[in-house]
Amino acid sequence: ESKSLSVEHRLEEVCTLLKENIAYYDWVGFYFKNGDKDELKLSSYAGAPTDHTIIPFGKGICGQVAVSNENFVVPDVKAQDNYIACSITVKAEIVVPLFVNGKNIGQIDIDSNTADPFTAADERFLEWVNEQVAQLSS
Ligand code: SME
Repeated sequence: ESKSLSVEHRLEEVCTLLKENIAYYDWVGFYFKNGDKDELKLSSYAGAPTDHTIIPFGKGICGQVAVSNENFVVPDVKAQDNYIACSITVKAEIVVPLFVNGKNIGQIDIDSNTADPFTAADERFLEWVNEQVAQLSS
């Protein structure tokens, strides 16, 4: 239990570091598979609290990534029909899955209030962040 608290604390520090240092990262959070259920549960985050602490697989951008195992870059959230709005200020989103031993166990989710800000460099960077986080939990 103390190990899992420490992992959550370090994840919170990762979220805060990213949000505070990258101007177009306005909300940063980690979702993980909720036990045996086909749903995601919000873990650590930085930014405004969200009502969407549980997201069923397949629902929204996050739920789709839980199923596809692939990065999802959304330049314009208004153009998505399977999208869960957390805040009306959000214009774009990126979700990158987090793998432990090849298994998709969760994801990092970033919302931006800037239109179309995410590039391939964000994808590579967030994949790297997730690889570091995967090592915390193995
Ligand atoms: N927009 C996400 C929901 C999570 S909030 O962005 C924090 C989605 O469509 O899955």
